[in-house]
Amino acid sequence: MEIQSAIEQALNTVRRNVDLYAGTEKFPHVSRGDGKYHLTDSTDWTEGFWAGMLWLGYEYGGDSKLHEAAVRATDLLERRLDANQALDHHDIGFLYSLSAQARWTVDGSEEARRVALRAADALMRRWRPSLGIFQAWGPEGDPENGGRMIIDCLMNLPLLCWATRQTGDERYAECARIHAEKSLRFLVRGDDSSYHTFYFDQQTGDALRGGTHQGYRDGSTWTRGQAWGVYGFALAYRNFGDPRFLEASERMARHFAERLPEDGVAYWDFDAPQQPGTPRDSSASAIFACGVFELLSLLPDSYPARDSLEQSARSAVRSLLADDYFTAGADNEEGLLRHGSYSVRGGSSPDDFMIWGDYFFLEALMRLHQGTPGYWYER
Ligand code: GLY
Repeated sequence: MEIQSAIEQALNTVRRNVDLYAGTEKFPHVSRGDGKYHLTDSTDWTEGFWAGMLWLGYEYGGDSKLHEAAVRATDLLERRLDANQALDHHDIGFLYSLSAQARWTVDGSEEARRVALRAADALMRRWRPSLGIFQAWGPEGDPENGGRMIIDCLMNLPLLCWATRQTGDERYAECARIHAEKSLRFLVRGDDSSYHTFYFDQQTGDALRGGTHQGYRDGSTWTRGQAWGVYGFALAYRNFGDPRFLEASERMARHFAERLPEDGVAYWDFDAPQQPGTPRDSSASAIFACGVFELLSLLPDSYPARDSLEQSARSAVRSLLADDYFTAGADNEEGLLRHGSYSVRGGSSPDDFMIWGDYFFLEALMRLHQGTPGYWYER
């Protein structure tokens, strides 16, 4: 399918969803076996993805309906920040890079810029200086999660780097850099696979052990975590220029690309037994594609692995465009990408629509069509 036609069809679904959710203050999250999005009251980590899709759609075609919905979703996230509601986690970058920072990017709104900066301040409250990490989940000192970092957090760091560039205050980016370095040291393994999470002793700061939250087992490679690493380290390379981050993103991308099944869409965990019916995670493939496109945007034409990286990202998008995954033309389905998984082991939406899968699929299409990179940094 041609990319532009895929974008048009994806945006038809987005517009239909705008009508469906109009009159509510709710956001699509994941489906639960019925092809319909389960809606949240902006209490989860995912609401920014819906806002981000609306901004991408508006930027693409100038559709005022999408603009109105994007502003509304962004306002709701601003209200959440004002109320300091459901922000006791690290996913503040996902929420506000794709809403307030996106609005600043697209509309040049000074108010949105201030909201994004306040969001960066909220994320800084998760910084644990004695451990050198942003704590992912739970309150400070929490016995289970107090000393825990997770690979997904790499995607929350760009908001901090943006905040440093906007304010001149180096502290945001400095903490982000330390966290990225720690992620490289403790989450990426020697064979280029990754831990989903890592624990540190909260008293001494000693490194304790790798573990998982959504993967098959503690030492396995959760596919989406690997994809967060590909994209997150590419963004870290953009922000810090440290070639170790470039190398990490590339190594992790190669590991990912070499472990795909025949149809090119990742299973949910690279170490889960693969048999008929093993769930996929199409969202991981979409994140992977965007991460590699980001990496390519930073590499010179003469870079040796450039062609193979580009092939792997294009092939991921091609695989997702196949009938089995992309819902193009299926008017009764609310999502764009079938066969994502939230938490297979936890039994939560193991084969469903994921709003972040839809966001990254649309971002990948926009990157291919017009070279726009989403809202992770200034353009
Ligand atoms: N960041 C949470 C997830 O990927 O499920």
